[in-house]
Amino acid sequence: MIFHRRLVAKGTRAALVCAVLAVPVHASDLPLEPLATVQDLMRYAVDANADPLWDAVGSVTTRDGVVERRPRSDAEWDAVRRHAILLLEATNLLVIPGRKISADAFPSDGPGVLGSAEIQRHIDRNRVQFNAFALELRAVVVRELQAIDQHDANALQSLGESMDAACEACHVANWYPHEAIPDLPTTPPPPKGRFKAHIPQDG
Ligand code: HEC
Repeated sequence: MIFHRRLVAKGTRAALVCAVLAVPVHASDLPLEPLATVQDLMRYAVDANADPLWDAVGSVTTRDGVVERRPRSDAEWDAVRRHAILLLEATNLLVIPGRKISADAFPSDGPGVLGSAEIQRHIDRNRVQFNAFALELRAVVVRELQAIDQHDANALQSLGESMDAACEACHVANWYPHEAIPDLPTTPPPPKGRFKAHIPQDG
């Protein structure tokens, strides 16, 4: 009976494969369908996989002094590699046309920062430029992957800066093009509360 059912299943699968193969799909009309939003991709595919690449290398100051953080075992390098692969492929997802910015509209976050509708309009009008930014990020992650495969922590660390620049370039162009960053105060603010400086008096 089990044998019979397997045969039926096999037959059904074969029929399905034939049916699928019968419909020619040309590279130009591959059924790519953007299902997640840009915001989803940023949170769960881009940021979630970029952070572990930045965090994998660097120096942290602890009570015992400065500790150089870097993957050491093959398993640790492999864990970092997994994030590089996922981030690399996320750049392909970014260039699939027709992706919505967010499920729910969001307002501007402050002066010079665009809300979701404006971001959407901006990207729709400048699609080629948006894709170029995604490809710029991809080029950096390709090099990060090479550094990971060579277990080269120093290269991975300096490429972290290039990755930061690639993220920022797209954000400045599409998200906060005229963000007003307040000037840093030129004089320190007056001391207040319990942190008032104690100035010893003479005599
Ligand atoms: C090709 C363009 C592009 C690139 C490259 C890009 N981003 Fe974004 N990112 C956007 C846009 C557009 C938004 C604003 C819309 C939104 O909030 O998702 C955004 C928003 C975000 C957000 C906020 C998501 C939220 O919760 O609203 C994070 C976090 C983020 N990006 C991280 C990154 C990091 C990290 C990188 C680089 C590793 C990166 N992005 C590279 C286009 C890009």
